Amino acid sequence: MNIALIVLAAGKGTRMNSELPKVLHPIAGDPMLIHALEAGAMLEPQRTVVVAGHGADLVRHAALAHDATIKVVEQTEQLGTAHAVAQARPALEGFNGVALVLYGDTPFIQPETLERMRDALAQNDVVVLGFEAADPARYGRLVMEGQQLDRIVEFKDASEQERLITLCNSGVVACKADLLFDLIDAVDNTNASEEYYLTDIVGLARERGLTATAVTCNEAETIGINSRGELARAEAGFQTRARATLLEDGVTLVAPDTVFLARDTVIGRDTLVEPHVVFGPGVTVESGATIRAFSHLEGCHVSRGSIVGPYARLRPGAELAEHVRIGNFVEIKNAQIAEGVKINHLSYIGDATVGAAANVGAGTITCNYDGVMKHHTHIGAGAFIGSNTMLVAPVSIGEGALTGSGSVITSDVEPHALALARAPQVEKPGMARKLFEMLKAKKAKQQRGS
Ligand code: UD1
Ligand code: MG
Repeated sequence: MNIALIVLAAGKGTRMNSELPKVLHPIAGDPMLIHALEAGAMLEPQRTVVVAGHGADLVRHAALAHDATIKVVEQTEQLGTAHAVAQARPALEGFNGVALVLYGDTPFIQPETLERMRDALAQNDVVVLGFEAADPARYGRLVMEGQQLDRIVEFKDASEQERLITLCNSGVVACKADLLFDLIDAVDNTNASEEYYLTDIVGLARERGLTATAVTCNEAETIGINSRGELARAEAGFQTRARATLLEDGVTLVAPDTVFLARDTVIGRDTLVEPHVVFGPGVTVESGATIRAFSHLEGCHVSRGSIVGPYARLRPGAELAEHVRIGNFVEIKNAQIAEGVKINHLSYIGDATVGAAANVGAGTITCNYDGVMKHHTHIGAGAFIGSNTMLVAPVSIGEGALTGSGSVITSDVEPHALALARAPQVEKPGMARKLFEMLKAKKAKQQRGS
């Protein structure tokens, strides 16, 4: 069955009180829109259409950066959810299959739930995702007749009796695309909000003798985000679930509540994560690694047996092979660190390759940026970089070479050579004593004078 996703993301999100379109506010490191798109992507849709409105350019950019095949259409005026879906019609020209409507501000719908909706379409023309609301508040209510969904009534338009219904509309709808657009053509805006309600397609389908039903899911899946408070609660909910999943998967989190994970964090079995570690987007950690306290990782890979931190920072493009040791106050960016390398203290290694078993001394800096361009540093296998070496890129240190502490290395070093690039030491016998006596005499004179 061909699937097309239609993700509604045109709303203003007034209550966010933000310059950023609501759907681009991040949860677990990714815009909430991406969470919705990824849930839908599990159904392997033929086409995906995002309906943008407020902040359309930013939304388009974020959607295309995530997946360049997405079609972004614009709804210039927000006249209601049915009107929003209608904007996707041209982008689905020639599409023959099922359309699934999701909201860009509803990030936690599970792929399995969407699969159940798709399966329910075998017996029904329209399938709506509902949930039993603890507090039904202003949600649309699902009016059931046995297993059939008769219609959806919005809170504003509902009678006292209908408001007692606790089965609510999540907003997710599945229907054959041609039928969906056909039904939407018949939706009008004669209601309390004067909006074109997508929810009206259920009643319209039933009037035509078609069938509709509701698939239900847990309320937690359907939460929508409208304010910073709800965003913070959604983040907390995500983190709680993601930590629990890692624990079940055999990862040790010493203090789970202090570890922050991204949507796509992958951590292998028997890896140990100490307290207060932050995983940004794009991190994979293999089995049997240790991430020590107060480290920050994003866009990086850590291989088996490596130890990172405490207080380490791995930035995008940091690739650690097996049994690497990255210590405190070390920052690694866009660098391949080969097996057994040690970079233990106070270093910056950026735009670099470091060969196997090299030892990078405390305070080593790759001077990778000249103010305009970035340059590469290569450190050969088994090299020993003395403490406080400045490696002025582009530069290459040969295999097994040694640099003297405090050197500013500006040209390549041959394999197995010793490179020293610092002022030679000068020693003046007795000079320290003379200097101190002079200074003490000066101070005594000043105190007499005052
Ligand atoms: C909608 C449903 C309601 C359901 C609730 C669940 C309708 C008429 N009502 O109500 O039954 O219980 O969601 O949260 O569908 N959007 C657009 N363009 C528009 C209008 C909305 O893109 O013109 C987008 C919004 O950005 C949002 C989604 O559609 O992502 C839902 O819109 P919203 O205004 O929040 O609908 P509700 O009134 O909450
Ligand atoms: Mg809403």
